[in-house]
Amino acid sequence: MTGSDSIRRIAVFDTTLRDGEQAPGCSMNPQEKLEVAKRLEKLGVDVMEAGFPASSPGDLESVKTIAGIIKDCTVAGLCRALEKDIDAGREALVHAASPRIHVFLATSPIHMEYKLKMTPDQVLEQAAASVRYAKQFCSDIEFSAEDAFRSDPDFVCRVFGAAIEAGALTVNFPDTVGYAMPDEFGDRIRYIREHTPHIEKAALSVHCHNDLGLAAANSLAAIQNGADQVECTINGIGERAGNASLEEIVMTLRVRKNYLKADTRIDTTQIYTASRLVTQVTGVKVQPNKAIVGENAFAHEAGIHQHGVLANRATYEIMTPESVGISKNQMVLGKHSGRHAFEDRLKDLGFTPDIKTLEGIFAEFKVLADKKKVVSDRDIEALVMGAAGSVPETWKLDHWAVNTGSALGATGAIRLQHKDGPYSKEVSMGDGPIDSIFKAINQIIGKEPELELYEIGAITGGSASQGETMVKIAWDDRHYNGRGLSTDVVESSIKAYIAAINAMEWELSAKK
Ligand code: KIV
Ligand code: ZN
Repeated sequence: MTGSDSIRRIAVFDTTLRDGEQAPGCSMNPQEKLEVAKRLEKLGVDVMEAGFPASSPGDLESVKTIAGIIKDCTVAGLCRALEKDIDAGREALVHAASPRIHVFLATSPIHMEYKLKMTPDQVLEQAAASVRYAKQFCSDIEFSAEDAFRSDPDFVCRVFGAAIEAGALTVNFPDTVGYAMPDEFGDRIRYIREHTPHIEKAALSVHCHNDLGLAAANSLAAIQNGADQVECTINGIGERAGNASLEEIVMTLRVRKNYLKADTRIDTTQIYTASRLVTQVTGVKVQPNKAIVGENAFAHEAGIHQHGVLANRATYEIMTPESVGISKNQMVLGKHSGRHAFEDRLKDLGFTPDIKTLEGIFAEFKVLADKKKVVSDRDIEALVMGAAGSVPETWKLDHWAVNTGSALGATGAIRLQHKDGPYSKEVSMGDGPIDSIFKAINQIIGKEPELELYEIGAITGGSASQGETMVKIAWDDRHYNGRGLSTDVVESSIKAYIAAINAMEWELSAKK
């Protein structure tokens, strides 16, 4: 309990880097994962699940790097209830200031019979044995009963009881397939709390999926019925329809704290930048009407609403955009703004890049300020995000030209510089300017990755706005994202494509 009004403090367990990242189209490279991890730390999550170490050597390394750097929250690694997975988890978390091994095993009849091919007694035994094994290496153990909602409640209570007896400090109740209804889920959590032996020795957690669009509602119903921890992801990314969205749960608790008698320690002013970063590194945009972080979440279009908001914001706003970190664009920066003003603005927006990154962003800001009279907060934010998670440049854009028209088709010419020094130039015909220039780039790099996604948008309104291009390419069953910014849309497309290629080249060179 916190505060005089008995407001319970709910722990936020973020799994953007594990359940989120494993969703189709949401993969991130190790740099990107580290950037997201730093953002989550700044946001104030209690636990971040950094990955599934046994799933690949790359995941193990990435969890290890994150665990060695993050200090202000617990870092968890997911493991099946198997000794070899727990060994990988232990290795990945060796440098963590506050490690947590998260062991899971399914408890529903359908999973036990068809996936695990185990009897309930065997599952009970393996759950306890795996927690006992993990407990030798780490005091903080979480046990999850996968598909708990479709499991026999009394069986889950027995498994949780055995896990607690073996040393689990958190027991997690997932609605793995997103099947529960809020009141039903709340009742179930109350039942589990009332019937699990020694539940007072452990925190009770929930983990909801969004197949029926009810993940946040179910998580909140669980909190009202005694859950101590919620598992969620930024932007709700995750398997299929996703996981419960962190921003929806956290803002509901903050806005309706007195009704729900619960809150988190999240710094909500960091929500928007965390959301933008996840969008940028995954290339997965949020829908415009998405609660809290969607483009329209605070837009008032109807005249009657605008009138009301101008008279008093509370007429149509239950929370302010500033409370989630969306700035009001108070300060105008332009080409005469100095480095200090720029740095101050970055700080106000919640960014504190290291000196080398700052130099790079400031140089880009100067170029942009030359083209645009006024540089907005959204522009600045876009520049910072562009620097986040970027990998070393194997290929650098030198210059480009495109000739296009309705009768003759398009011809693109491009010159790139390789990191070892030499310049390469190619020309190609194509079906439009982007196709021609991407083909010319492919000729230089000697590969033809599949273009899986190409999206272009504007950072701010107006014809001088920066164009933002997102590109996703596939090569050898791996997916790479790139993002490009420029006031010229062809150039932003080229930059995005080269960024994705650099991510690919960097991973391929690491494998050599
Ligand atoms: O959805 C689920 O059941 C999970 C568990 C591994 C916690 O992600
Ligand atoms: Zn899940």
